[in-house]
Amino acid sequence: MARELLRRDDQHLIPVYARYPVVMERGEGCHVFDVDGRRYLDMMAGLGVNALGHGHPRMMAAMIDQAAKMVHVSPQYSNPWPGKLAEQLCALSGMAGVFFSTGGSEAVEGALKLARTHGRQRGGAQKHELVALRGSYHGRTFGSLSVTGQDKYSIDFGPGLPGVRFVDRDDVAGLRAVVSERTCAILIEPVLGEGGVKICSREFLETARALSDEQGALLIFDEIQCGLGRLGRWFAFETSGVRPDVLILGKPLGGGIPLSALLVTESLFHSFGVAKHGSTLGGTPLACRLGMEFLAVMEEEGVLARVQASGERMRERLEALAKQYDEVVEVRGEGLMFGMEMTVPARPLVEDALRRGVMLNCVQGNVLRFLPPLILTEAQVDEGLDVLEAVMADHFSPAVSTRTKIAVGA
Ligand SMILES: Cc1ncc(COP(=O)(O)O)c(C=O)c1O
Repeated sequence: MARELLRRDDQHLIPVYARYPVVMERGEGCHVFDVDGRRYLDMMAGLGVNALGHGHPRMMAAMIDQAAKMVHVSPQYSNPWPGKLAEQLCALSGMAGVFFSTGGSEAVEGALKLARTHGRQRGGAQKHELVALRGSYHGRTFGSLSVTGQDKYSIDFGPGLPGVRFVDRDDVAGLRAVVSERTCAILIEPVLGEGGVKICSREFLETARALSDEQGALLIFDEIQCGLGRLGRWFAFETSGVRPDVLILGKPLGGGIPLSALLVTESLFHSFGVAKHGSTLGGTPLACRLGMEFLAVMEEEGVLARVQASGERMRERLEALAKQYDEVVEVRGEGLMFGMEMTVPARPLVEDALRRGVMLNCVQGNVLRFLPPLILTEAQVDEGLDVLEAVMADHFSPAVSTRTKIAVGA
């Protein structure tokens, strides 16, 4: 069955994804089933979207109820859900206003436009430069691609936005050198996800905050991947003590229905102005209703604490593997967001794990990335890691060196 479906995909879908040779049909909690009835443990949650797993009863009930009432209405008309969700997100984050859009890239576009208009209001057209990080990932649209610090994504599509300056993560001196009175924003992923799960240091974030304040630039945190509970707290920025002017959220927010959010502080509430920005499908009643339900389930089912417990278990297991094999360079991460950097390509491990019933993911060619549903239990961590352990035992010989591999992160 899968073979026929895959053949049809190959004939009709433009091949931009390096797909795996399976066809997924349905999900249940932290498991996914393919069309041939095989079961897989989901350790990647649809690239971080399926935070509450698959078919969560409350999400399903909210979806069905809202679908029957109203899926979409022009954003020029009010409906009960975007306002409620915005209020809730502001209460959680301390921000003051929200603009809803569909995917992460679209929210990044909004943030860049906001930065440009804010810069123009403060310093004229010359205050247009954007500072971003090498190794970052912000999306595939032109603006978001222009601030993504990885040439492999943008090289064929240039030129991108003018005035983008890149700096290495944690290069405090480098950051000081590129930020100037022409800077309208500094854009940071507090944990670089697609870049290989790399955590920005507190010193770097503090410097970015200080430089933004000095130069009247906006500090934008892209928490599309690392926010909304992924790290075992609502937002990545909470532990650094550094607050952004603009916060971008996405991935799990709409429970699988496209929804992203651009959150701003009080002073930026009116920066866009009426009719200067918009999104036909941004913040539909259905998506926002699911956003409300997602936040409620997270709160009422104590999901953040569960992320911390399962995350600790995952860290222990990954560190144990790191000690066993020379091919593991380092384990990085927090909560339920981990990267295991290898000296060798990681894709063969992902493919082998899939054959054995575990869905993993790799980034940067050599980093295994773990982004499971936030409801993954400790027993399920073991279920997944037992398989990875068996895969690694078949691919590598036990370590001969005694080199220490330290886990980075809180
Ligand atoms: C940090 C970050 N920003 C932006 C994006 C782009 O989001 P989307 O693919 O929903 O457009 C992603 C997607 O992986 C991301 O991880």
